[in-house]
Amino acid sequence: MITPTVQLVRPAPSNKRKRTHHVAERMFEKSMDDFAAEVRDLLKVSLEPRQLLEMSEKLEVEYREKLKSSAISMLPSYLHTLPTGREIGDFLALDVGGSTFRIALIRLGERDDGRDGLRLRRVRSFLIDKSIRDLKGRAFFDWMAERIGEMLTEYNHINGTTDARLRMGLAWSFPVDQTSPRSGRLLAMGKGFCATYGVEGQDLSELIMHSCRARQLNVEMMAIVNDGAATLLSQAYRDPSTCMSLILGTGTNAAAFLPYTTLGPGKFGDRPDSWHAAAKHVLVNSEVSMFGRHVFPRTRWDDELNSKHVLPDFQPLEYMVTGRYLGEIARLILVEAVSTAGLFDGEMPARLNEPYALDTSLLAAFQNDISRSMSKASAAFLDAHPLPSPPRISELHFIRELAQLISRRAATYLATALHALWRLRTAAEGLQPGEASHVTIACNGTIVEKYPDFRACCQRQLDELCELSGAAKGAVTLAMAPESSLFGAAVAVACIGDES
Ligand code: BGC
Repeated sequence: MITPTVQLVRPAPSNKRKRTHHVAERMFEKSMDDFAAEVRDLLKVSLEPRQLLEMSEKLEVEYREKLKSSAISMLPSYLHTLPTGREIGDFLALDVGGSTFRIALIRLGERDDGRDGLRLRRVRSFLIDKSIRDLKGRAFFDWMAERIGEMLTEYNHINGTTDARLRMGLAWSFPVDQTSPRSGRLLAMGKGFCATYGVEGQDLSELIMHSCRARQLNVEMMAIVNDGAATLLSQAYRDPSTCMSLILGTGTNAAAFLPYTTLGPGKFGDRPDSWHAAAKHVLVNSEVSMFGRHVFPRTRWDDELNSKHVLPDFQPLEYMVTGRYLGEIARLILVEAVSTAGLFDGEMPARLNEPYALDTSLLAAFQNDISRSMSKASAAFLDAHPLPSPPRISELHFIRELAQLISRRAATYLATALHALWRLRTAAEGLQPGEASHVTIACNGTIVEKYPDFRACCQRQLDELCELSGAAKGAVTLAMAPESSLFGAAVAVACIGDES
C-alpha cells in the first residue's frame, strides 16, 4: 500500500493581522492556496453546459420513471384545469412552511385600480421552531388548530361576526398523496418535522379538522395542495403563461401542469370516472428535491452532510441547494480549512464546530459585501462566530468565493432540474423545443427571492440550456410570485369549488 506523503505547511505570514493573544505556531497538511484551489475544482466540477445537458437528460429519464410509478414523487393533484383569473370569494388560507405557519384571510376577485385580484386582507405568522417541529402526531395538529383559533378570534372581533363558516385551503410544504381535492394521506416529512409520528398515512385533512372541531372552530377544509402547486396556481391566476413553478427556501420543489397521459394509471389511486373523463392535464407535484442522487456529482462535504443527516439520501437535490443546507456545506468546508490548511491560523471560531451553526444568511452577507475591506461581512462573521482576532482580508475573500461557488452550483443544478422538467413537458405536449410557447415558472422562497444573484444566475443557466436544446431565446422566464402559498391555497379552493 502506498501511504500518501503529507507535506506540512506553515500558514502564510501576515503583518496585517495583529494577534492580541499568543498562538502557538502550528503546521498544517496544506496551504490555504492549495485548499482553495481544491475547493474550486470540486465545486465547479461538471458545470459546463454540455455536461449539464447530459445531467438534464438523465434527470428526465428519472422523472419519466417516477411519473409512471412512485408513491412519493411526481404526485398528481386533483386539479386538471388552471385558474382563469375570474375566480372570486373569501377564504382562509393556511401555509405550513419549514419555519413558519401562516394564516391569512384572502379575497379573490377585487380588481380595483387595475390590480391583479389577489388580496391579502389579514395575515398572522407563527414561528415554527424546534419545539414545534418536535411535536409528534396529533400534538402538531392541535398546535395548528390553536393558532387558527387565535386568528379567528381576532378576525371575528375585527368584523363583528361570529357565525361565518370559513372555507379553508392549505398549502403544505411537504409531500402529500392526494385522495380527493380536499384530503390526502400524510407522507414522510423532511425539514426536521416529527408530526408524522404515529399518524403517517392518515388523512391530513381529517387530522387538522379533528383538532379544529375539538376547539369548535367554524371552518371547513376545502382544498389541500403542496406549496409548489400553490405557487403555480397563484401565478397562473395572474398570468396564463404560467405552467411550472419553483420553490427554493428552506426546502425546494417544482410543480408542472402536465398532460394526463404523462402519468401511469396507477398514480391516480381511486378517483371517480368523471374525474378521469374530464382530465386532459394534471397539476403535478414533482418533489424534485428527491431526484438526482446518481446525477449530480457530490463532493466529500456533500457526502458528510448526507451521512450525518437524519434522512440520508431522502432529498439529494435539496441537500445541495436549499437555505437549510448551503450554510452547512460552507461550514463543513471551513471547519476542514481551519484544521488542515490553517485558516484563521488553525483557530476554530466559536460555534463553527456545531452542526448547522452557520446560517445561510451569512453566506449572503459575504456575497453582498463587495467592498475592499469587507468590513460588513467580517463583522457579521465575528458576530456569529467570534474569533480572538479578526480574519485577514485574504480569509474574507476565501469565504466570499466559497459562498459564490456554493450558491452558483446550487443555482446551476436547479436550472438543470427545471430544464429537464420543461423538456419533458414540451415533448409531452407533442412539441419540439423550438415550437413551444413562452413558459413562466412561478417562483417563491427566500433563497430564490433574496439570495444575491441567485435567480439571475439560475435564469442564465436555464436560458443557456434551453437554447442548447433548440428553444428560442427567452423561452422560459422565472417570475417571482409574491405570497404564493397563501394565494395559491385560496385559488385552489376557488378552482375546486368551481368544479364540484
Ligand atoms: C418538500 C416539498 C416542498 C418543498 C418546498 C421539500 O422539502 O418535500 O413537499 O414543496 O420542500 O417547501
